[in-house]
Order: sequence, then structure tokens, then C-alpha cells
Amino acid sequence: MPTMADVARSAGVSVATVSHVLNGTRPVSPHTRQAVLDAVDALGYTPNTLARSLVTSRTRSIGLAVSAISNPYFTEILQGVEAAALHAGYSLLIADPHDDPGHERKVVQLLHERRVDGMIVAPSAHPQDLVGYLRRHAVPTVFLDRVIDAGVRDGTAAGGPAGAAPGEAVPWYDQVCAESAGPTARLVTHLAELGHRRIGLVAGLPGLSTTGERVAGYRDGLAIAGLAHDERLLVSGHSESAGAEQATAALLALQDPPTALVTANNAMTIGALRALRRHGLSVPSDIALCCFDDFAWADLFSPRLTAIAQPSRELGAQAVQVLLDRLDEPCRPTRTVRLPCAFVHRTSCGCPEEPGAPEEPESTASSTQPQKGTAS
Ligand code: HPA
Repeated sequence: MPTMADVARSAGVSVATVSHVLNGTRPVSPHTRQAVLDAVDALGYTPNTLARSLVTSRTRSIGLAVSAISNPYFTEILQGVEAAALHAGYSLLIADPHDDPGHERKVVQLLHERRVDGMIVAPSAHPQDLVGYLRRHAVPTVFLDRVIDAGVRDGTAAGGPAGAAPGEAVPWYDQVCAESAGPTARLVTHLAELGHRRIGLVAGLPGLSTTGERVAGYRDGLAIAGLAHDERLLVSGHSESAGAEQATAALLALQDPPTALVTANNAMTIGALRALRRHGLSVPSDIALCCFDDFAWADLFSPRLTAIAQPSRELGAQAVQVLLDRLDEPCRPTRTVRLPCAFVHRTSCGCPEEPGAPEEPESTASSTQPQKGTAS
């Protein structure tokens, strides 16, 4: 097995220079860098990352725990994380906690035991054990997609982390998520502008911040449109297709069913469409439909789905950047980064097809909220 010393000898440089080229720890002139890379290639040298970890106490690896990895939204997030991590010279260890708090706590501990440098986690609806563990072990962590600052902010930890000190004002972790409330309100006001007065929402799993924010956005949209809120029109599809199919059937069984429907994620859109088909209803002539989440084949449905597109890859890439910033500067203030979504106007809402008209995604403003707390 060729060693780093062999590479240094062959390239005519010091071992330290080889190390700087391979680890990106110091700038090296393009000429020297190329000589080192050529020698690495010619000798077939592969760095021993285990040996390096023993010296640096860093593994240059990131643990990623995301449920529903087969959902295209999370698959795209994963692609964003993977590309950004690779670009920075980090590898990934991936686990799927299946939105089960016990399993979540277990897989995160396993990743931590593999000594990942930091963790990116999309927390379940009940993340108390998870957050307690991460905090006790001071694991540099970015929460992704689902934010959990509400419980931490008020210190009552209702749904918040067990590790939060009472009265604690700021989260000790960083977070990256997409806007949820504003875009949901946008769907509701759009349907109201088209004349709908009874607009139903098939909401996600209770306890997830994305669910809470989309429900809040639904209520905001109704208020903006001057529509009364009928609680019976708000049902839970539990974030998945079968749940949404049942929930939609319940809406359709009402004496005064909705004339328009908003579904709060891609899987629930599929379930809702199944229920509508079973009831022999056509979109949009019998019932209009707008959905949260755009996906690759949303414009292949007939009618084409009016949807909110989340910046999924960008969410993944941002989560990596925020984690790398934390690793570089452990005491920096924590951040919550919110990325804007786009309104993709198609025809399932009931608007006519405009021949040749390009889809013009409308964007909401992005925001980064620095918080005064520091990571522990
Ligand atoms: N969060 C946000 N968007 C989503 C989800 C989720 O869990 N699932 C599908 N789209």
C-alpha cells in the first residue's frame, strides 16, 4: 500500500503539503497541487480516513436522519445534502427513523456512535428524547424541514425538547426549513378568488411544525378572503396517502361538502385524488384542487396540478452549509433559515389552460433569522 510519504517523495514535496492538498486545509499553488494529484493517481494512493480521524478527532462525515426517504420530496432533499456534502469533502451516513420517536432516538445514537462530525435531522412529531440526547451529548445538529423552536422558545417544552431549560428563550440548534404558512394561504386565497366559499384542507400529521404552519396558513387564507372557518372542513390525512384518502372521503360525505380542496403534501394529494376518483368526481369541474408540493409528474395529471413547489434540493444544500458553519465556528449564534416556495399555477384550481403560456412561479421572500443563543 503506498503511503503519504511515497506520494510526497514522488511529487517532490513535503508530507505536510500532500496533506494540505488532500484535506484542503491550506491553499497550495496550482502547479504543486497538480503534481501531488498526479502522484496520487500514479501510485494509486488512497487516504486512510480512520488513521486521519484518530489524529484529528474528526471523521469528515455527516449523519442524516430523514423519515420517508422514498417520498420524492425527501429524496430530493437527500440529493441536495449529498451533493453539498461531497463538494465539501464529507461523506454521509443515512438512516430513516420512520417518523417513530423511539426509532429516531435509536438511529441518531447509532450515527453518533459512529462519530459523525454533525447531524442533520428531520425530527418526528415527538422529538423530546431525540433532542434531549443530542443536547446531552452536544452533537452539532441542524434540524431540517420540521422546526421545533416553538417548544424551546417558551420553555414550557410542550412538544419541545426535554433538554430545554425552563424559560430558555432561544434554541441551541440551527434549523433549515421552507415557508409553509404563506404559501398555503396563497392557495386558499386563489381558490376564494375563483368563487369558492367552502374550501377544505387535508392536513398532515399532528405535531409536525409543517402541519401546524400549513393549518395556520389555511386559516390565514380564509381570513384574508373573508370566509368563515368551518372546523368540519379541516381534516387530518396524517401526511400519507391512505390517511388522506379516508380524510377526503369524510369531507365528501358531509351534508355540505367542500367545492375546493387543498392538500398539504404530495402523498396526500395522491390519496385525495384516489378518493375523488372513487366518488366519480372530476377535477376541477366537480371539485377544485390545489396542493402543497410540486413533483416531477404533477403536470402530467389531467388537469395539471396547481401546486406549491418547495426548494427541496436547496433545503438539503443549505442544511449542509449551516452545519459546516457550525463546525467551523461552534459558538456562533444559532440560525433558523427559511427558504421561499413557488406558486406553480396550472389548471386543477379551475383556471383555464393558457396555450403556450409559461408557468410563472411566484416566490415568497426568504429569511434568515439569527438568534442570540449559542450552540452548546
Ligand atoms: N414536510 C414537508 N413537506 C413534505 C413532507 C414533510 O414531511 N412530506 C411531503 N412533503
